[in-house]
Amino acid sequence: MKKILTFSGSNSSASLNRKLVELAHSKLETLGSTLIDLREFSLPIYSIDIEKDTGIPSEVKRLRALFDEHDGFMIASPEHNGMMPAFFKNTMDWLSRIEGLIFQKKPVLLMSASPGPRGAAINLENMKNVIPHWGASVVHASFSMGNFYQNFDLEKNTLVNLEDDQRLTTVIRNFEELFQ
Ligand SMILES: Cc1cc2nc3c(=O)[nH]c(=O)nc-3n(C[C@H](O)[C@H](O)[C@H](O)COP(=O)(O)O)c2cc1C
Repeated sequence: MKKILTFSGSNSSASLNRKLVELAHSKLETLGSTLIDLREFSLPIYSIDIEKDTGIPSEVKRLRALFDEHDGFMIASPEHNGMMPAFFKNTMDWLSRIEGLIFQKKPVLLMSASPGPRGAAINLENMKNVIPHWGASVVHASFSMGNFYQNFDLEKNTLVNLEDDQRLTTVIRNFEELFQ
């Protein structure tokens, strides 16, 4: 079975985007998935001085090994001021310092969630455009969930609206088909 690496681009312990990727992870049928928390890879803000003085941190190498071991990626990212959070970009900056493309010509499914009505869609579009430059082969940016607290049942960990739930399931099935 092919397996993907699944994570949120947030460093919040109560991340909405983490909730969304957990739900997406639970919907997978034909793909295996390793759900990780990027907060476990504790990284300084990228600095060429740090890299020159002490080299690439072992945590970056550990994360890169996970990227190597998986066949694709499923990511839900918050939007901070219209862009990906500095935390997420920092992780990508460190990964880019290791030889080879970050996403290694593998497919990526992007999602996003926000408490406001727009579902972090500006950043979702940004990421759809930028991630191919980081080596993604196919990017699906198909699911954004606005008004998260109204639309997500935090007790049951499900979407409140059945149509939204079906829309997410369809996105996941379409992504899985890429690996058949
Ligand atoms: C510095 C900062 C900037 C933000 N900018 C945006 C924004 O541009 N668009 C948006 O939809 N939400 C924005 N938000 C609200 C986030 O969507 C909200 O904090 C959300 O919970 C972040 O996702 P997370 O819980 O997965 O970390 C911002 C929040 C912070 C702290």
